[in-house]
Amino acid sequence: MNRIFYEIFEQMPRQGPGKSEYTKRALSFCQLPPKPQILDIGCGTGAQTLSLAESTDGLITAVDNHGPFLKELSEKAKALGLDSKIQVLHGDMNRLGLKQKFDLIWSEGSIFVMGFEKGLREWKKFLKPDGFMALTEVAWIKDNPPTEALSFWEQEYPAIKDISSNRDIIRSAGYSLIQDFIMPKDAWDDFYSALKIIIHKIKSKDLKNQQALNTIGMFEREVKAYQRFGEFYGYVFFILLNYGS
Ligand SMILES: C[S@@+](CC[C@H](N)C(=O)[O-])C[C@H]1O[C@@H](n2cnc3c(N)ncnc32)[C@H](O)[C@@H]1O
Repeated sequence: MNRIFYEIFEQMPRQGPGKSEYTKRALSFCQLPPKPQILDIGCGTGAQTLSLAESTDGLITAVDNHGPFLKELSEKAKALGLDSKIQVLHGDMNRLGLKQKFDLIWSEGSIFVMGFEKGLREWKKFLKPDGFMALTEVAWIKDNPPTEALSFWEQEYPAIKDISSNRDIIRSAGYSLIQDFIMPKDAWDDFYSALKIIIHKIKSKDLKNQQALNTIGMFEREVKAYQRFGEFYGYVFFILLNYGS
């Protein structure tokens, strides 16, 4: 990722579509023990980490490979008096090297980095038997998307699947699917509104850097694609149980 990419995302309230309300809805399906140990993978600046900390009495280990996101999360946690419930870990989700097993693994908008199936299989070793996992993955949510939408996603994330294929992957990776729901459109609207404001600010500085312009162009295409074809794809929250291992 280039500098401008991080400059944009460091200013965003969150780094992917989401909302505290939907984090809490997903959490309501997880039956957790008192003081649960929670691992939040690809936490970004931690919008969902803070929601989890508000709603649980356990300890959250929030992992990301971008240090400034973690610094921001630590500062917010402190300001909200939630710092005793959150510890940040600067690390790579591909090589977590944790000895501990968790009651809950959370990952909003991040498992795509490893790939949905690979992430599910690799992270299982960090989950206690009967532990829960909650994640979001972009998916086709309506049949027969137009060719332009297909070719947009062919470039962005060719591994995108429909919900039913993701459910099959979940089961074959050794989990029970407890619940899934499509994240409502307002999560995307909020995300893109914030993105458009930041892009406008950056563009209004005399921008000559071609790499920066390319990055901004990529985000603008993403926003436009959602405006045109957003009814065909969305983030799906999957809540899983790690049975019998
Ligand atoms: C789309 S953002 C989602 C962030 C946050 N969960 C949210 O929903 O606002 C993906 C996050 O994964 C992090 N990330 C990307 N590659 C990673 C890796 N290899 N290991 C750990 N984190 C990674 C990024 O820094 C970013 O914070």
